[in-house]
Order: sequence, then structure tokens, then C-alpha cells
Amino acid sequence: MAYGLGIESSCDETSLAIVEDGEKLISLKIHSQIENHAPYRGVVPELASRAHLEKINPLLEMALVEANLDFKDLSYVSVTSHPGLMGSLLIGASLARCIALVHRLPIIPVNHLEAHLSVLALEGNLPTFPSLGVLLSGGNSSIYIYHGFGKLELIGDTMDDALGEAFDKVSSLLNLPYPGGPFIEKEANGYVAKTPHQSLFPKLLKEAGPDQIGFSFSGLKTAVMYHIKGNQEALNVSQICYDFQNSAFELVLRNVNKAILKTGIRNVIFAGGVLANETLRQRIEEKAKKEKWSSFFPRKKIYCTDNGAMVACLGYYLWKAGETAPIDFLVSPKRKLTK
Ligand code: KG4
Repeated sequence: MAYGLGIESSCDETSLAIVEDGEKLISLKIHSQIENHAPYRGVVPELASRAHLEKINPLLEMALVEANLDFKDLSYVSVTSHPGLMGSLLIGASLARCIALVHRLPIIPVNHLEAHLSVLALEGNLPTFPSLGVLLSGGNSSIYIYHGFGKLELIGDTMDDALGEAFDKVSSLLNLPYPGGPFIEKEANGYVAKTPHQSLFPKLLKEAGPDQIGFSFSGLKTAVMYHIKGNQEALNVSQICYDFQNSAFELVLRNVNKAILKTGIRNVIFAGGVLANETLRQRIEEKAKKEKWSSFFPRKKIYCTDNGAMVACLGYYLWKAGETAPIDFLVSPKRKLTK
């Protein structure tokens, strides 16, 4: 039996978790910094690193107490090494280095994006490799072939905004709170569409060919802005949110379809904060059923957002494969680790 510690501090959540054998959650502590960043409607890197510094040690203590374990019971310490905000990543990396040095534990640096996909192992729901991985968060909209632990191949990316970022910006245009996702979803749920329904916004990237797997949400954001400017007198916020979601989700599913056709892989993992959206979850399930592919996403919504459990989970499989790192392991804001 192996217990592993996972440390996540790449963006605006400080989180520590202990996982057993990469498949069972023993303890999980998360501190969200939403309150720190809400006045600015986006993550302020300097505030993020300060908040991580303040919270990380108490959370470590709490995670160990909840698990009823001591450092001597741990087999490895895993930590998000990339991508993310540099100052924030360094807080987690420093803690991992201290623990590893003092308690003589192997360090397993993990890719944050892969951790989002691999967390399904904690729900016994990780499909066999290779699978497709679709990451939709505040900082990423991308599609990968997930060949195996530690092996991600990017096959589709965003040209501008990430999907979560588009939710946050549209929410700001509509004077809804930050982060925008849950508020846009709530407004959209309140809209009853007439059939046939004429959308306020155009189909996204409609010229993209079958080989072009990619996202672009900035045009949609601009369309929302012009619609608001031109319709101040009779603004239907619920319909704007409904049509915004429809346009964005249609592009996500169109890209998934292209990725399946291109690779022949029919197991698709969806992950990231936007997967908290019930409408998106339903659309994915309906589409998968209709087109006979299999969809996988975290059942627990806590696993959609940034968390230490996914880090400890991926850390286990990399540790088993001998993927330990030196104490001066690389930390990087980029998606690929290079000096
Ligand atoms: O993965 P995540 O927790 O962290 C970052 O990437 O920072 O994703 C956060 C993003 C935010 O942009 C937020 O608006 C979005 O996920 N989000 C949602 C929902 N809940 C959170 N987007 C759509 N619908 C939701 N219910």
C-alpha cells in the first residue's frame, strides 16, 4: 500500500491531498482564492502567490490530520510543475522540495493538464490508453491524444481565449459576478427557447475543414459585446447566455467529432472547470450515445476544478513507472518543460 501527497498551486486554488495507490482518496483540502480575485474579474498573479504562501502550510497540516497519517507513512510527494503562474507554481514546488529533503521522499513533478485527465482513476473510471482528452478550463481549451501516463500529444488548441475565460468575459459584459461560468449557466437555464430557435450569434469557425481541430472564442465574445451595445433597451440576458453556451458547446462537440474521425479513438475524457456545467455534461452524453463513442468526465465536481487529489493520483502512476525527479526539477509556466 502506498500513500502519496499531492500539492497543487498552479493558479488560484491551493490544494493538498493524500491518495492511496492512485485510486483511493484519503484526504483533500482546497482553498479557493475567488474572493481575492473577484474584485479584478480575473486572477491577479501577485495576489495568487501571496495567498498560496499563506495557506499552503496550514492545508498540509489539515490534510495529514484528516488522513491520520504522518510524513513517515508517505511513499512520494507529487507537485504540479507546469503549466501555471510561475510565482504560484514555485510556492508548491518549494514545499515539495522541503518535504522531500527532510523526509527523504522521491519527488514526482506532474503536468497540471494531464492531472486533470488522470483524476478519473480516483473514480475507477479512467479509460484504457490511448484515449482522447478534452481540457476546458479558465486557461485552456485543448484536445490531446492521451497515449499513457506522462504521454500527452496536443492535436487541437485555442487560437485565442480559453472557454472558461470566454464565460468570465461575457459574464463581465453582462455585469454578472466572477467567475462567470456558474452565473451564465444559471441565466441560460432560465431561458425557454422557442422552436425553431434563431440564435443571436453565428456558428463559430464555420469555415474550418475536417482536419482543422481548434477553438476560437474571441469572435463570440465580440458578438456578445456588439449585441449588448445595440440592444440596451430590450436586453434579454437569459437568451444571450443560452445562445452563447449553445455556440460555444457546438464548437466543442464539432471538434471532438473531428478528433474521433482523425484518430479513430472513441474513448473521450473531458476535464477542467467548465465541466461543472450541467448543460455541457448532458450535451456530451447525448452526442456520445447518438454517435456511439464513450464519454468520461469526473462524477464529483470537486475533481473538475483544480485540486491536489489529481496531482497525487497522477503522481502515483509516474512514481510506479520510476519517474522521480531531482530536487532542482524544472518549474515552468509553459505546457512543455524546457530549460
Ligand atoms: O479548471 P478551473 O477550475 O481553473 C482554471 O483554469 O483557473 O476552471 C475555472 C473556469 C472559470 O473560467 C469558470 O468560469 C469556469 O471554469 N466554470 C464554468 C462553470 N463553473 C466554472 N464554466 C461554465 N459553466 C460552469 N458551471
